[in-house]
Amino acid sequence: MLRFVVDVETCIGCGQCASDCPAMIIDMNKGIPGIDGDKEGYCIGCLHCVAICSEGSVSILGHGPQDGLELPGKMPDPEQVELLIKGRRSVRKYQDKNIDPELIDKMLEVAWHAPSGHNDRQLLYTVVDDKALVDALRTEAFAGLEKLIAENLLPEGMEMFIDIIEAWKSSGRDILFRGAPHLLIVSALEESASPLQDCLIGLTTFELYARSCGVGTIWNGLATLTITDLVPSLQQRLGIPENHRIGYAMGFGYPAIQYERTINRGKPQVNRVR
Ligand SMILES: Cc1cc2nc3c(=O)[nH]c(=O)nc-3n(C[C@H](O)[C@H](O)[C@H](O)COP(=O)(O)O)c2cc1C
Repeated sequence: MLRFVVDVETCIGCGQCASDCPAMIIDMNKGIPGIDGDKEGYCIGCLHCVAICSEGSVSILGHGPQDGLELPGKMPDPEQVELLIKGRRSVRKYQDKNIDPELIDKMLEVAWHAPSGHNDRQLLYTVVDDKALVDALRTEAFAGLEKLIAENLLPEGMEMFIDIIEAWKSSGRDILFRGAPHLLIVSALEESASPLQDCLIGLTTFELYARSCGVGTIWNGLATLTITDLVPSLQQRLGIPENHRIGYAMGFGYPAIQYERTINRGKPQVNRVR
């Protein structure tokens, strides 16, 4: 049941909701928007009808205008967004403290707004929100990796993990997690429309919002590889369902460093079609 409700007192019958509906299931036959019962199954739950209504007259799936933030005149200006995008860096030095759980929840809630294929939103945000747990995870990861090495089962091309373990043991240098006190691993239901893409977009969204909150992030290929391929028992340990495809792991925390400026990346490679 979609529970498509229109406030007939305020609806001006402009039809914007109908024309913006990607599933094209809203009709204006009666002068106000409606959805035929037999078309309800085509709704993808994008809530464009709620978002576009200038009068705040529409609600669907239990969500109405009161659940959102007003947009006109409120968007950050391009200069601020440019600064956010260019000012994001991979952080590899972190303060040794946990982030307030409320801020973590807020960052996840914002990241949950990332687009997903077919609006499936079959993502799972697995969060390690206590630095002591990251420590425990590192110990388990290294134990698993050492077992692989001892049994000569470390796949070819993965020899760097020998050095990574050695760096941790000899000097406490954490190349695996880059000293991040928290980890976010995003996975998606394997049979969703675009599991991998959805995970990466979710993490990208998380990363940018985190930056605006003063939280640093690091895309972590080494941790991802460890969980997905080398020590797969970690997937269960982390409570990630078997039928989920792991997209990527990201470390995050308060940075122990500060970047003073953006850099020049040069011109983008563009293939302009004429
Ligand atoms: C998919 C992906 C995987 C990455 N994996 C690692 C990693 O395992 N360890 C690490 O220190 N940095 C990792 N990075 C960070 C890149 O090295 C970094 O993004 C790049 O050097 C550019 O620096 P910047 O992010 O500060 O602009 C990864 C980045 C991406 C996008």
